[in-house]
Amino acid sequence: PIDQRQYLVGGELKPWSGAVTEVYSTISSEESYAPTLLGSIPDMGEAEANEALQAALSAYDKGKGAWPTMKVRDRIECMEKFVRQMESKREEIVKLLMWEIGKSLPDSQKEFDRTVEYIYDTLEDYRQLDRNSAKFQKHDGVYAHIRRGPLGVVLCLGPYNYPLNETFALLIPAIIMGNTTIFKPAKHGVLLITPLLEAFQNSFPKGVVNILFGRGRAVAAPIMKTGKVDVLALIGNSKSANALQDQHPKSNRLRLVLGLEAKNPAIILPDADMDLTVQECIAGTLSFNGQRCTALKVVYVQEEVKEEFLKRFTRAVDALKFGNPWEEGVKLTPLPEPGKPDYIQELIDDALAKGAKILNEKGGQRFDNFIWPAVLYPVTKDMRVYQEEQFGPIIPIRSFEEIEEPLDEMAESNYGQQVSLFGKDVYTLAPLIDTLANLVCRVNLNSSCQRGPDVYPFTGRKDSAQSTLSVHDALRSFSIRTFVAFKDN
Ligand code: G3H
Repeated sequence: PIDQRQYLVGGELKPWSGAVTEVYSTISSEESYAPTLLGSIPDMGEAEANEALQAALSAYDKGKGAWPTMKVRDRIECMEKFVRQMESKREEIVKLLMWEIGKSLPDSQKEFDRTVEYIYDTLEDYRQLDRNSAKFQKHDGVYAHIRRGPLGVVLCLGPYNYPLNETFALLIPAIIMGNTTIFKPAKHGVLLITPLLEAFQNSFPKGVVNILFGRGRAVAAPIMKTGKVDVLALIGNSKSANALQDQHPKSNRLRLVLGLEAKNPAIILPDADMDLTVQECIAGTLSFNGQRCTALKVVYVQEEVKEEFLKRFTRAVDALKFGNPWEEGVKLTPLPEPGKPDYIQELIDDALAKGAKILNEKGGQRFDNFIWPAVLYPVTKDMRVYQEEQFGPIIPIRSFEEIEEPLDEMAESNYGQQVSLFGKDVYTLAPLIDTLANLVCRVNLNSSCQRGPDVYPFTGRKDSAQSTLSVHDALRSFSIRTFVAFKDN
């Protein structure tokens, strides 16, 4: 077992001898997918939370600290030192990604490489931002030197499905813009932070990055309560985000950088290319077992092509290969959350009781901590699988006659991240794209929904997000424009 017994506060890697939380893995080399012990992490509370907060506050030192006042090129040097050390840990981190969250080998490698690229791209964009701010503007006799400055102390909480990439998509831009940070990894995908603790410690001045372990409620809530955090950066669910936001005594002054739930639909028009549509819907609904905020979580298919789509799609779902993450060609892997198959089962039972059917032969088959993806049709609005963000292997399907039906449902939805639109006729597609872009933030044409490439804006309307995350936008989300002005006199 990997017993992680350290935390990083105020530039010191401190030993931990208190209570611990066990970390389980649901993969194994012995063909059993029941949770087995993988290691443990410190179970921290209010005392350590306050310690980390004090360290972050004193490193920021009301804007006078060494980090928020450091020259751009020196900050970049610190980050380069960090990323070089991170690159040397690739093999170890990829292995932990597979064992901790069951992500396939190619996807784990991609998550690591994408994160390294994200850091280098962020540095390049940061250099450009600095070059731009070196220019003076002049309007009506007033010169201005406009630049971007830090916001203060940032609390970062990442998700389990991208414990490296999405966590770092919050943390890295927050750090580079001159903020000081407190970071708590997700409950799955937490041991993989261990190999990076020393790199964080030796790359940045003390107190710039503080890393705590434990439950969000125990660690993050006491920090928020003090009212001394300037930014809440979280990728996860709105329940946690709201609960933490509510703890802050001046929550209306808090900057929120949030990536939350989504219920991205696929809309299949009668002239859609069926090979491509099936292929993209498989990737969209079931990559990483559907545990992605960008996953397709409801499919709307036009009546004329419904039979053909359902036949081909269900066949394709049952042809997917299940196994351990390192096995060749594996697309479905055990679920990392112990209660997840039971939750998916509840959604299936509810839908069946209200008149849906499981269309694929293997749908709902269970073994250990896995449940085979169930294709459900016809799904109605009163079913839980229609109303909830399933975040797992289950695919609700609805058919429609008129395009207004899915459009109306999207407008009524609490979410507004992305949509996938499948069809060919440009005269039909063009106006539809304009309408869809007013309901969500990204319209994917004949392709599944996804966050990347990471240079594109990643955000959402309504309850799906606050602020924008991408290489370019995140630097802005974690900073504020400030300027020096003087008159031409
Ligand atoms: O969980 C939400 C992620 O942002 C999904 O990212 O589209 O790259 O898989 P992805």
